[in-house]
Parts: sequence; C-alpha cells; structure tokens
Amino acid sequence: MINIDAHNHVKGKSIYLDDIQEVQGTLYALPFDATVAHAKIKSIDLNAALKSHGIVSILTAKDVTGLNQIGGIIPDEPLFAEDEVHFRGQVIALIVGTSEHHCRMASKLIKVEFEELPVIVDPREAQAKGKLIMPPRQFKLGDTESAWAKCEHIFEGRSDVNGQEHLYIETQGAYARPKEDGSIVISSSTQGPTAVQRMVAQVLGIPMHKVEIDTVRLGGGFGGKEDQATPWAVMVALACQMLHKPVKMSMHRMDDMRMTGKRHPYSADFKIGLDKDLKIIAYEVTHYQNAGAAADLSPAVMERTLFHSTNAYFVPNVIAKAYSCKTNLPPNTAFRGFGGPQGKFVIEAAIVKAAESLGVSPAMIQKANLVKDGDELSYGQILQQVEASNTWETCMKSYDYESQKNRVEAFNKTNARFKKGLAIQPICFGISFTNTMMNHARALVHIYHDGSVVVSTGGVEMGQGLNTKMLQIVVETLGIKADKVRLESTNTLRVANTSPTAASAGADLNGKALLMACNALLERLKAVAQKEYTDQIIEIKDEMVYANETKTEMSWKDLILKAFTQRVALSENAHYATPTIHYDKTKEKGHPFAYHVYGTSIHEVTVDCLKGTYEFDSINIVHDFGKSMNKDIDNGQIEGGLVQGIGWMTLEEIIYNDQGRLVSNALSTYKVPDIYSVPKQINIQHLETEGHELAIKKSKAVGEPPLMYGIGAYFAIRSAVKAFNPNADLAVNAPYTPEKVLMDLYRKS
Ligand code: MTE
Ligand code: HPA
Ligand code: MOS
Repeated sequence: MINIDAHNHVKGKSIYLDDIQEVQGTLYALPFDATVAHAKIKSIDLNAALKSHGIVSILTAKDVTGLNQIGGIIPDEPLFAEDEVHFRGQVIALIVGTSEHHCRMASKLIKVEFEELPVIVDPREAQAKGKLIMPPRQFKLGDTESAWAKCEHIFEGRSDVNGQEHLYIETQGAYARPKEDGSIVISSSTQGPTAVQRMVAQVLGIPMHKVEIDTVRLGGGFGGKEDQATPWAVMVALACQMLHKPVKMSMHRMDDMRMTGKRHPYSADFKIGLDKDLKIIAYEVTHYQNAGAAADLSPAVMERTLFHSTNAYFVPNVIAKAYSCKTNLPPNTAFRGFGGPQGKFVIEAAIVKAAESLGVSPAMIQKANLVKDGDELSYGQILQQVEASNTWETCMKSYDYESQKNRVEAFNKTNARFKKGLAIQPICFGISFTNTMMNHARALVHIYHDGSVVVSTGGVEMGQGLNTKMLQIVVETLGIKADKVRLESTNTLRVANTSPTAASAGADLNGKALLMACNALLERLKAVAQKEYTDQIIEIKDEMVYANETKTEMSWKDLILKAFTQRVALSENAHYATPTIHYDKTKEKGHPFAYHVYGTSIHEVTVDCLKGTYEFDSINIVHDFGKSMNKDIDNGQIEGGLVQGIGWMTLEEIIYNDQGRLVSNALSTYKVPDIYSVPKQINIQHLETEGHELAIKKSKAVGEPPLMYGIGAYFAIRSAVKAFNPNADLAVNAPYTPEKVLMDLYRKS
C-alpha cells in the first residue's frame, strides 16, 4: 500500500496546524522571551506594549488560573517565568493581538529589568557545582574492579557529542477555541495529545474532561513535539480561557529554534579493557548529560543512554553512570533515539581508540564482541532472537566488504589529496518506552451501517507512515478495500489517556489495539453470516462473504446492514498493554524492552584532504525488519533516519556562546544535510527473519534505530583522516564538521 498521505502531501492538500480554517474573531499570540540566560526579574513593564495598536492582552504568570507549572516528569518548569529566568528563550509573557505582526511590534515595547546571575552552559561545570536535575543513576553488571586485572589492554579517554536541532518542517504551534461552559478545544501539533491535555487542565485549573486536544498530523516531530509542543498549546488555551476568543500561535523558525530544547549534548569519560583475543572484558563510562534549565524528558533520556551504553556488544563487566546536569540552556528533550545514540557513540569511540592503539581495525573488535542469544545486558535483560551477527555477516557477504576494503586501501596508496575511509556500524536498539507504565494504547473503530469504517487510535501521524500501517491492519483484518476506511485525527475525546507517539512504538502499540478491535468486530460479523451459512467456515475477502472458501452472494455491505438490523454492535474499543516487560529502578534490573532491533551498515567516504570536505560514496545496510508490513515506508524510515544521523554526526553544529545565546539560530548558521550532501548510494537489504510476536504483524519498529547508522559516518571520516595523518592523536568528539576535519588532517601529534 502506498503511503496514504503521498498524493495530498504532494498536491499541498494535507492539513497542518496552520492550514486549519480560522474561526471569525481569531486572535494571534506571540511569546515574549528572556534575552539573558540567568537572571532575577526585577520588573516587567507592559504599559507601552499594551497600548500598542492591535494588542488585546498580555498574559504573565499572574494570569494563570491553575498552576504555573508544566514539568511532566519533575515539576520544575514554570509556564511563564516568575521571579527568575533560567535560559535565554524562556517565556515571560504572551502577547495576544489581532495579528501576529501587531504582537511583534508590541514585543519591542516590553521592558524587563534583569539582575544578571552567573551562567553555566557546560554540564561538567554544573555537575561540579552540584547542579543536577536528579540524583545520578548507575547500571552495573559483573565486577569491573576485579576484571581490570584480567585485561591485556586498557584504554581511557573522553568523548563529547553535541546536540541536534529537530528542524521539523512544521514549527511548533497550537490553536484554541472556546466551547460551552469553559471547555476548550485545542488543535495542537503534538506527539502527545494527552500530555497537552493534562498540562492545559493543570495550568487552567479545570478538569481534563473540559479539554479536547485534536491532532490531524505533524509536519515532523522527531521527538521535539513529545513534550515541547505542550507550552504553546497551554499558552493559547490560557488566553482563550481568559478572553473567550479563539487564539492561535504558529511559531517563526528563529523563535522556535531559540526557545525550544534540542537533542542533549553529552560529555563522557570511558575506560575499556580487552583480553588478548580482543574480547571486551570491562567497560566503565560516566555520562554528563546537558539537560538545560529544567527536567523536561531528561531523566527518561538519560535512562535510555544507560540502557544503550554497550550498543550491540556483550560486555560481562560494566559500570555505566550518568549525571543529568542543570545548565542555563533551553531544556533539552526527546530526539530520535532518545539518548541511545549518545550512549552508543561513546562505546564506539572507546573501541576505535582501542583499535588505533593496538593497530587493528575497529571492525575486528566490533565483530568479536557482538551480542548473541542468551547474553545479559547491564540492566539484566537476557537477549533472545538476536540478529547482530546475522546482520553483520550478511552485510559483509552481500556487499562484498572484502573487495571494498581492498579497493579503498589501493585508492589510499595511490592518492595524496583524496583519502577514503571505511567504517562498520552495528546497532541494537530496545523497543518499548523505558518507562513500563507508558506501554499501552487504545483504538476505536466504528462501522457505519453503509459499510464505511472510521478508525481512531492514540497514535499521531508525523510523516512516519503510521496511518498507512493502521489502514493496512483494518483492510487486511476486515477484508475490505482501503476506500471504505477513514483514519480520523488523534483526539482525546475518542481515545483517552494516550502515550505520546514515540519510542518507535507507535505502530506496535496502537496497531495491536486496533488489531484487537478489528478482530472483535470480525468475530461478531462472522456470527451474523454464520446464521445464513450454518456449519461453514466464514471469511470476508474483497468485501464479499466466503463460506467454506466459496464466494457467497453476501457482500460486506449486505452483511453490515444485516448486523445493524439485528442490533449487533458495530463499534469496538480495544486496549493493548505490552506483556512481558518490567523494570525495577531500585535494583536497576529488569526486562524493559519487548524486543531489540538489529542492523549493520558499511560506510565509505572520500575526504578532500586539501579542503577538509567529504562525500559519502556509499552506505550499505542490512536491517532487521522482521516481516516488514510496508517495505516502502520502512525503507523511507531507514533513509530518513540514516541521513538525520549523518547530519548529527557531521554537519549539524549547535553553538551556544558562554552566555547561553544560541549562535546557530537560523538555517544560515545551522547546516543540515541537503540533496548534495546525502550519500551517493544508499543500499538497504531486508534481513528476512521470523520477526517478533510483540511487533505488529511481526513487523519490527523502525522509527528510531536507523538514526544510529549515522554514527558510522563519523568513524568513516575518521578513518580517512587517519589514512592521511596516521600519527596524530585525535579526539573523539562529534560533530565532525569540515572545519574540524581540516584541523585534524594537519594536527601534529
Ligand atoms: N519520521 C518522520 N517522517 N517524521 C518524524 O517526525 N519521528 C521519528 C520516527 N520517524 C519521525 C519519523 C521518531 S523520533 C519516532 S519515536 C518515530 O518515528 C515515531 O513513530 P512510530 O512510533 O510510529 O515509529
Ligand atoms: N522513548 C521515547 N520517549 C519516551 C520514552 C522512551 O523510551 N520514555 C518516555 N518517553
Ligand atoms: Mo521519538 S525521540 O521517541 O519521539
């Protein structure tokens, strides 16, 4: 099935937040934010701004009718700053007017007096000063202390990795309209309608049943709208409550980039020990997560960093520790991979450091340590149905890695200006929200008596193709054509208590619930048909009823009308909760993931050693999809994730100055991969495996894992740099921008 949004997207017919027909009398809102990163607010003068043309109202903390608090995991984040600001971009007031332009003019007239306080942007400095979001956490397996003695080689180092701007094409926004009796309907570009509903209710001081959140689709979320779509929706809701008017906000790119959090930068210290056969015997890592000024999702992100600290490798003795450090930056948040990529980068850095010191290829160490069935990870989960070696071996064979390697070596012998680099990147990513209680979903299906069907789930379509997969489930289960089915927006009145569409689990969780709902309806309908074709096996195929594999006279429409006249329920609401998963935080042990996704990629890059620029010649992937429900959509996720991962590792450089000002604040100063910088060739091979029972139709989750193939791009560049400048002692810090590559090419050891 082709992506059901494809045609409308291309024709510009798809509806995003800013395309919603505006109601007469709609007002527009603009957040007014702090221009310093840490300060006491001495005074706010709104007088001139309030008198400005077209201004209806300006809201501050004083106007909050409930709690001025939007922290989801830890209540440490005010909606509007009160006495202090903790990052540049923190919202102090909301300007509401008859046009956005009027609001922008007025914003220049607001006067805030600050008393500036010291600014911290570095996570290690924050940790040293005791500024933590929460107490540190530590995962432990075996006994590293005694293991070091058994190691033939021990290497230590430090590795830093930068954040990443989400750059969803659709910026943040929300649109609130008043309803009867103080209830409000809000269209929100959010991955988590229930998270928005909960915070609107809390800040407005009204019950959740008075707040309806509706989400048609997002123009991309990538984690940036899991938690951080909330403040904007709450602000317009508050203005709507106060003014009894529809209020809309659709952010400008530079405002969005300045005010919202990003992928967390991390700094880490590692120590790795290997035996003479290159088996990793022990690994210790300490992560310093740059959380920004409030918790947001940082505790959960940090947890996933720890879960993935040994990537696809079995290490019998591990200590992985992490600090969530409070700095004066916008609160960092979910971003595809959710801390996992940062955890994986560090062990890859450690392996490369070890390989370079020992004079072996990193691939030898990687391969010697891949996880296999029965291996225990640092958090106690025993791996089953492991495909790490299978994807690795298949990748080596299918793409003839040996000849590629020989060709690259020969190239490097005969070329002075250009050097090629190769790297292999295995991945192993856990599927499920790390927080067990979030792993559930619901679906609601109505069959109308004309035979048409409408489907609601808790899942949000954000370009990942969720709705197409949901449609496939309905069509395949009920035996009807796609044009009989309509996928409705995600709405908190139809499906309540949703988890955000995140953790790559959207299709698994919502799909399983939907499958249950469809199966329940199917059973009921079959019973209706059974009355006519007694003792025969009933099936529905191509909108016809089959009895004992023979087509009957009864069509889907006939059957539905029959069921309706017999007063059979034609609606079904189903609930699914992932079985088998559990986790005990007091012991840091359990079985948090339903299953893991595996894959291996080979990266070839050519570096221009005069300029420091690079081009990716090819990226060859063998990926474990299980039994893919939709190969085109899944390949799209691999390509998108891969390129986003390459961007993170190479071009994209978020720069805050020491005063917490975002310097890379627009697309002129923040470079994302474009059509010229994507790999010349991306080959994706599907590893045919049984799949996993807990994956929807055995089609494994695919949203986030491929981003981590991007890490291989970093190490491919490094290997080319090493070919040019073999003796330099290079740091392992990402991103590897052309500037940094150039410096390393000519670095003296
Ligand atoms: N693909 C597109 N096109 N747009 C997105 O915003 N988000 C990613 C991934 N793929 C995203 C995407 C992230 S961060 C996640 S968690 C998953 O999609 C969420 O969707 P799923 O659970 O249905 O895979
Ligand atoms: N992944 C993504 N989002 C989340 C998670 C997770 O594991 N936990 C809470 N939100
Ligand atoms: Mo994805 S970072 O779990 O929204």
